[in-house]
Amino acid sequence: MSLQADLQSRLVSALQVAGIDESLAVVTPATDARFGDYQTNAAMVAAKALKKNPREVAASILSNLRVEDLSEAPTVAGAGFINFKVLDAALSGALNGLRADERLGVMPVAVPKTIIIDFSSPNVAKRMHVGHIRSTILGDSLARIARYLGHCVVTDNHIGDWGTQFGKVIHGWKHLLNRDALEQAPIAELVRLYREVNAAEENDPALKETVRQELVNLQQGDPENLEIWKQAVGLSWKEFERLYGLLDITFDERLGESFYNDALAPLVDRLLGEGIAEQSEGAVCVFFRGSPELEEKPCLIRKSDGGFLYATTDLATLEYRETRWKPDAVWYVTGAPQQLHFEQVFATARRMGVTTDLRHIAFGSILGEDRKMMKTRSGENVELGGLLAEAIERALTVVAEKNPDLPKEEQEKVARIIGLGAVKYADLMQHRLTDYVFSWDKMLSFQGNTAPYLQNAYVRIRSIFRKAEAEGISTVAAPIVIADPAERALGLQILQFGEVLHTVQDDQRPNLLCLYLYELADCFHKFYEACPVLKSEGEVRLSRLTLAGVTADVLREGLSLLGIGVPERM
Ligand code: ARG
Repeated sequence: MSLQADLQSRLVSALQVAGIDESLAVVTPATDARFGDYQTNAAMVAAKALKKNPREVAASILSNLRVEDLSEAPTVAGAGFINFKVLDAALSGALNGLRADERLGVMPVAVPKTIIIDFSSPNVAKRMHVGHIRSTILGDSLARIARYLGHCVVTDNHIGDWGTQFGKVIHGWKHLLNRDALEQAPIAELVRLYREVNAAEENDPALKETVRQELVNLQQGDPENLEIWKQAVGLSWKEFERLYGLLDITFDERLGESFYNDALAPLVDRLLGEGIAEQSEGAVCVFFRGSPELEEKPCLIRKSDGGFLYATTDLATLEYRETRWKPDAVWYVTGAPQQLHFEQVFATARRMGVTTDLRHIAFGSILGEDRKMMKTRSGENVELGGLLAEAIERALTVVAEKNPDLPKEEQEKVARIIGLGAVKYADLMQHRLTDYVFSWDKMLSFQGNTAPYLQNAYVRIRSIFRKAEAEGISTVAAPIVIADPAERALGLQILQFGEVLHTVQDDQRPNLLCLYLYELADCFHKFYEACPVLKSEGEVRLSRLTLAGVTADVLREGLSLLGIGVPERM
């Protein structure tokens, strides 16, 4: 049990004896270190309900609270906060427990859930745009964290492989294809075909009709068109896979939209039969009469020309997932502009009897330095592959400058870790709903709340250990003994690792983990300035080395939950 949890359970007992609702027993880290390390507002909340004086309620709680072995005598401050200042010995004990725990003090959840995380989901024959980039980075981190906490996570890449773009792609493939270009840069060539046909179609109604027919043929199973489609999907996948490989991201499922194609017509018929959907001017819709938000916004599931829609596929996908995985929750990681779509899909799903916790994990946009949607100079969507290549290249310049003696090969390896980490961290450190300005200089800086800053803190610790080994100093982990205030601050921050991941999970906000790690690195630097490590001696030196070692473990683990690696030197 963590120190915080231990204090909390003692508080539960005290509230029980005092006849106060024990659900009020919530202990959190102190907001102001001057008053203590942990605090609870239980007395204030209870006093309000009981219409009593909060300080009196606090006194009656304290008279029943047994925490002598953990904390100095708790004090009451302000409007009735109860504060705890943890004993050095208790803090040392908790840290030694954490050091020996390979989960670093993170308790798995009591009730593991099956959570499907639908993320990345780019569209075939198109480039991933910034929306996909954010979804990819955010979804992966959420999956890692949920798994670490013991949930059963299924990651599913719901790629758009059955859209109307294929009419154009197929026509282009038949008439304009450059095989060499396709070999070398498949998505670029597919995008070119799409664009050329799209432009040619504009003033050519006959061509438009031909293209439409190609799509209809594909949908009706024409073997030649199906073959072209298959190749286009395969080639796009190859390139997506390359990017996922670079980013160290994997999926358990990759069932694209096409997988659900055969389920669409029967689904719509069934919804009509059950009275959930209705005919409306030749189309089929689900109406939400009486709903304040969706009254005016029916969910269209079949167009009057018989075509199906994005929402139809999502409903079929959900039905499949319900049967296949019996999930407790499904998280859809897509941009905020899809909010209405998911509200409609979720509302329809409720009508269909789905009770699963469905969540749209929305996020904001990435902006260019001009504060408008990030685009390339020619006004196109920024392409993920190019972005990552540039990140690595820029990181290489930084690494070569800072560490010219590192062998070239290692410089490149380190640059990959730093460059990719910087891009991921710049995204994850923001509250997901805020738009943020993409800035190479900021994200690659070794100062401030950045990945390189955190990686550098880790590297610094590793170099202390290398130096110790070179000087013949023992680095075998030893009991941590807390004495100095900087050690205390670092120790308390380390202990928070066990709490922060649960908070991140509760509302899907990896930015809280980023902030935690940033503060951890900061505590470490302060500790390192105040407390000599290698220059101290005996048990103090061993204790400080061990404390530094645990800090490195938490940094490495925390960063890995963001999908970010650490180099050994940089
Ligand atoms: N392919 C879609 C897009 O690019 C995202 C799909 C998200 N997942 C879902 N089940 N709708 O916008």
